[in-house]
Amino acid sequence: MLGAAERATASQIPSAVSRVVLIGFMGAGKSTVGRRLASAMGWECVDLDDEIADQEGMEVPEIICRRGIAVFRAVESRMGREVVRRRRTVIAVGGGWPSEPGNMDLLGKGTLSVWLQVSPETALRRLARSATLRPLLESPDPLARAELLLAARTAHYRRAELAVDTEGHSPHDVAARILELLRSRGARAQAAKARE
Ligand code: S3P
Repeated sequence: MLGAAERATASQIPSAVSRVVLIGFMGAGKSTVGRRLASAMGWECVDLDDEIADQEGMEVPEIICRRGIAVFRAVESRMGREVVRRRRTVIAVGGGWPSEPGNMDLLGKGTLSVWLQVSPETALRRLARSATLRPLLESPDPLARAELLLAARTAHYRRAELAVDTEGHSPHDVAARILELLRSRGARAQAAKARE
Protein backbone atom coordinates (compact mmCIF):
# COMPACT_ATOMS: atom_id res chain seq x y z
CA MET A 1 0.00 0.00 0.00
CA LEU A 2 1.28 3.47 -0.79
CA GLY A 3 1.43 5.94 2.11
CA ALA A 4 -1.02 8.79 2.49
CA ALA A 5 1.44 11.30 1.01
CA GLU A 6 1.89 9.14 -2.08
CA ARG A 7 -1.80 8.59 -2.70
CA ALA A 8 -3.32 10.70 -5.43
CA THR A 9 -6.40 12.76 -5.04
CA ALA A 10 -8.65 12.73 -8.08
CA SER A 11 -7.81 16.35 -8.89
CA GLN A 12 -4.11 15.51 -9.26
CA ILE A 13 -4.71 13.00 -12.04
CA PRO A 14 -4.89 14.70 -15.44
CA SER A 15 -8.52 14.67 -16.59
CA ALA A 16 -7.34 13.65 -20.07
CA VAL A 17 -6.18 10.30 -18.66
CA SER A 18 -9.06 7.80 -18.35
CA ARG A 19 -6.99 4.67 -17.98
CA VAL A 20 -3.44 3.42 -17.50
CA VAL A 21 -2.30 0.35 -19.45
CA LEU A 22 0.78 -1.48 -18.15
CA ILE A 23 2.74 -3.48 -20.69
CA GLY A 24 6.04 -5.35 -20.54
CA PHE A 25 7.68 -8.74 -20.38
CA MET A 26 6.62 -11.55 -18.02
CA GLY A 27 8.05 -10.82 -14.58
CA ALA A 28 8.06 -7.04 -15.06
CA GLY A 29 5.57 -6.74 -12.17
CA LYS A 30 2.58 -5.48 -14.18
CA SER A 31 -0.10 -7.10 -12.00
CA THR A 32 1.42 -6.13 -8.65
CA VAL A 33 2.24 -2.59 -9.74
CA GLY A 34 -1.24 -2.33 -11.31
CA ARG A 35 -2.96 -3.23 -8.03
CA ARG A 36 -0.88 -0.76 -6.04
CA LEU A 37 -1.29 2.04 -8.52
CA ALA A 38 -5.05 1.54 -8.83
CA SER A 39 -5.52 1.50 -5.08
CA ALA A 40 -3.50 4.72 -4.72
CA MET A 41 -5.60 6.40 -7.42
CA GLY A 42 -8.94 5.06 -6.17
CA TRP A 43 -9.40 3.33 -9.55
CA GLU A 44 -10.27 -0.25 -10.56
CA CYS A 45 -7.51 -2.66 -11.48
CA VAL A 46 -7.95 -5.29 -14.17
CA ASP A 47 -5.56 -8.06 -15.12
CA LEU A 48 -6.36 -9.31 -18.61
CA ASP A 49 -5.10 -12.84 -17.83
CA ASP A 50 -7.46 -13.03 -14.81
CA GLU A 51 -10.39 -11.84 -16.92
CA ILE A 52 -9.61 -14.51 -19.51
CA ALA A 53 -9.37 -17.21 -16.82
CA ASP A 54 -12.75 -16.13 -15.37
CA GLN A 55 -14.41 -16.09 -18.76
CA GLU A 56 -12.93 -19.39 -19.97
CA GLY A 57 -13.18 -21.19 -16.62
CA MET A 58 -9.53 -22.20 -16.97
CA GLU A 59 -6.23 -20.59 -15.96
CA VAL A 60 -4.12 -19.07 -18.77
CA PRO A 61 -1.28 -21.66 -18.63
CA GLU A 62 -3.88 -24.42 -18.94
CA ILE A 63 -5.53 -22.69 -21.93
CA ILE A 64 -2.14 -22.43 -23.65
CA CYS A 65 -1.19 -26.04 -22.90
CA ARG A 66 -4.57 -27.61 -23.73
CA ARG A 67 -5.85 -25.44 -26.56
CA GLY A 68 -2.62 -24.02 -27.95
CA ILE A 69 -1.04 -20.58 -28.12
CA ALA A 70 -2.96 -19.47 -31.23
CA VAL A 71 -6.32 -20.03 -29.50
CA PHE A 72 -5.08 -18.17 -26.42
CA ARG A 73 -3.88 -15.21 -28.53
CA ALA A 74 -7.27 -15.02 -30.26
CA VAL A 75 -9.13 -14.96 -26.92
CA GLU A 76 -6.60 -12.48 -25.48
CA SER A 77 -7.00 -10.08 -28.42
CA ARG A 78 -10.79 -10.36 -28.42
CA MET A 79 -11.13 -9.75 -24.69
CA GLY A 80 -8.35 -7.13 -24.69
CA ARG A 81 -10.34 -4.98 -27.11
CA GLU A 82 -13.04 -4.50 -24.49
CA VAL A 83 -10.79 -4.34 -21.42
CA VAL A 84 -8.54 -1.53 -22.75
CA ARG A 85 -11.58 0.74 -23.14
CA ARG A 86 -12.57 0.72 -19.47
CA ARG A 87 -12.46 4.02 -17.67
CA ARG A 88 -10.87 4.89 -14.33
CA THR A 89 -9.03 1.59 -14.57
CA VAL A 90 -5.43 0.44 -14.41
CA ILE A 91 -5.09 -2.44 -16.86
CA ALA A 92 -2.29 -5.04 -16.81
CA VAL A 93 -2.06 -6.97 -20.07
CA GLY A 94 -0.04 -10.16 -20.62
CA GLY A 95 3.50 -9.85 -21.98
CA GLY A 96 2.54 -11.05 -25.44
CA TRP A 97 -0.50 -8.81 -25.94
CA PRO A 98 1.39 -5.79 -27.39
CA SER A 99 2.98 -7.80 -30.21
CA GLU A 100 -0.25 -9.11 -31.67
CA PRO A 101 -1.22 -7.11 -34.78
CA GLY A 102 -3.37 -4.08 -34.07
CA ASN A 103 -3.35 -4.34 -30.28
CA MET A 104 -1.06 -1.38 -29.55
CA ASP A 105 -3.12 0.70 -32.01
CA LEU A 106 -6.02 0.41 -29.53
CA LEU A 107 -4.16 2.53 -26.97
CA GLY A 108 -5.23 5.92 -28.20
CA LYS A 109 -6.59 9.06 -26.66
CA GLY A 110 -7.31 8.92 -22.94
CA THR A 111 -4.85 6.08 -22.39
CA LEU A 112 -1.52 6.40 -20.65
CA SER A 113 0.54 3.39 -21.69
CA VAL A 114 3.52 2.47 -19.53
CA TRP A 115 6.23 -0.05 -20.40
CA LEU A 116 7.62 -1.70 -17.28
CA GLN A 117 11.15 -2.63 -18.28
CA VAL A 118 12.91 -5.72 -16.97
CA SER A 119 15.94 -7.71 -18.10
CA PRO A 120 15.50 -11.41 -19.00
CA GLU A 121 17.71 -12.40 -16.03
CA THR A 122 15.65 -10.43 -13.50
CA ALA A 123 12.40 -11.61 -15.09
CA LEU A 124 13.41 -15.26 -14.68
CA ARG A 125 14.54 -14.66 -11.09
CA ARG A 126 11.18 -13.07 -10.22
CA LEU A 127 9.20 -15.75 -12.06
CA ALA A 128 11.00 -18.50 -10.13
CA ARG A 129 9.11 -17.19 -7.07
CA SER A 130 5.76 -17.05 -8.89
CA ALA A 131 3.12 -19.74 -8.53
CA THR A 132 1.84 -19.13 -12.07
CA LEU A 133 3.44 -21.18 -14.84
CA ARG A 134 4.69 -19.41 -17.98
CA PRO A 135 4.46 -22.10 -20.68
CA LEU A 136 6.28 -19.90 -23.21
CA LEU A 137 9.40 -20.04 -21.05
CA GLU A 138 9.31 -23.83 -20.62
CA SER A 139 12.55 -24.66 -22.38
CA PRO A 140 15.88 -26.39 -21.71
CA ASP A 141 17.36 -22.88 -21.88
CA PRO A 142 14.81 -20.44 -20.42
CA LEU A 143 17.25 -17.52 -20.52
CA ALA A 144 17.90 -17.89 -24.25
CA ARG A 145 14.14 -18.22 -24.78
CA ALA A 146 13.41 -15.08 -22.72
CA GLU A 147 16.12 -13.12 -24.59
CA LEU A 148 14.68 -14.14 -27.93
CA LEU A 149 11.10 -13.30 -26.96
CA LEU A 150 12.07 -9.95 -25.45
CA ALA A 151 14.10 -9.01 -28.54
CA ALA A 152 11.11 -9.78 -30.76
CA ARG A 153 8.78 -7.72 -28.58
CA THR A 154 10.87 -4.68 -27.78
CA ALA A 155 9.77 -2.66 -30.82
CA HIS A 156 6.15 -3.11 -29.69
CA TYR A 157 6.85 -2.29 -26.04
CA ARG A 158 8.69 0.85 -27.17
CA ARG A 159 5.41 2.23 -28.50
CA ALA A 160 4.27 2.91 -24.91
CA GLU A 161 4.12 6.56 -23.96
CA LEU A 162 6.30 6.07 -20.88
CA ALA A 163 8.99 3.60 -19.94
CA VAL A 164 9.79 2.86 -16.30
CA ASP A 165 12.76 0.70 -15.36
CA THR A 166 11.88 -1.86 -12.70
CA GLU A 167 15.41 -3.20 -12.17
CA GLY A 168 16.27 -2.91 -8.50
CA HIS A 169 12.94 -1.24 -7.71
CA SER A 170 10.10 -2.71 -5.68
CA PRO A 171 6.53 -2.69 -7.08
CA HIS A 172 5.82 -0.03 -4.45
CA ASP A 173 8.55 2.24 -5.89
CA VAL A 174 7.46 1.63 -9.46
CA ALA A 175 3.83 2.48 -8.64
CA ALA A 176 4.98 5.61 -6.77
CA ARG A 177 7.08 6.66 -9.81
CA ILE A 178 4.11 6.31 -12.19
CA LEU A 179 1.94 8.26 -9.77
CA GLU A 180 4.54 11.01 -9.62
CA LEU A 181 4.61 11.19 -13.44
CA LEU A 182 0.81 11.34 -13.55
CA ARG A 183 0.77 14.09 -10.93
CA SER A 184 3.32 16.23 -12.72
CA ARG A 185 1.32 15.88 -15.94
CA GLY A 186 -1.83 16.85 -14.03
CA ALA A 187 -0.07 19.89 -12.56
CA ARG A 188 1.21 20.96 -16.00
CA ALA A 189 -2.27 20.56 -17.50
CA GLN A 190 -3.80 22.65 -14.72
CA ALA A 191 -1.17 25.36 -15.14
CA ALA A 192 -1.80 25.44 -18.90
CA LYS A 193 -5.55 25.74 -18.29
CA ALA A 194 -5.02 28.58 -15.81
CA ARG A 195 -2.98 30.46 -18.45
CA GLU A 196 -5.80 30.25 -21.04
C1 S3P B 1 2.62 -14.36 -21.82
C2 S3P B 1 2.58 -13.68 -20.62
C3 S3P B 1 1.73 -14.11 -19.51
C4 S3P B 1 0.49 -14.84 -20.03
C5 S3P B 1 0.90 -15.97 -20.93
C6 S3P B 1 1.71 -15.51 -22.12
C7 S3P B 1 3.56 -13.89 -22.87
O1 S3P B 1 1.31 -12.97 -18.74
O2 S3P B 1 -0.36 -13.96 -20.72
O3 S3P B 1 1.62 -16.93 -20.17
O4 S3P B 1 3.41 -14.30 -24.02
O5 S3P B 1 4.45 -13.08 -22.54
P1 S3P B 1 2.33 -12.10 -17.83
O6 S3P B 1 3.05 -11.14 -18.73
O7 S3P B 1 1.43 -11.40 -16.87
O8 S3P B 1 3.26 -13.05 -17.17
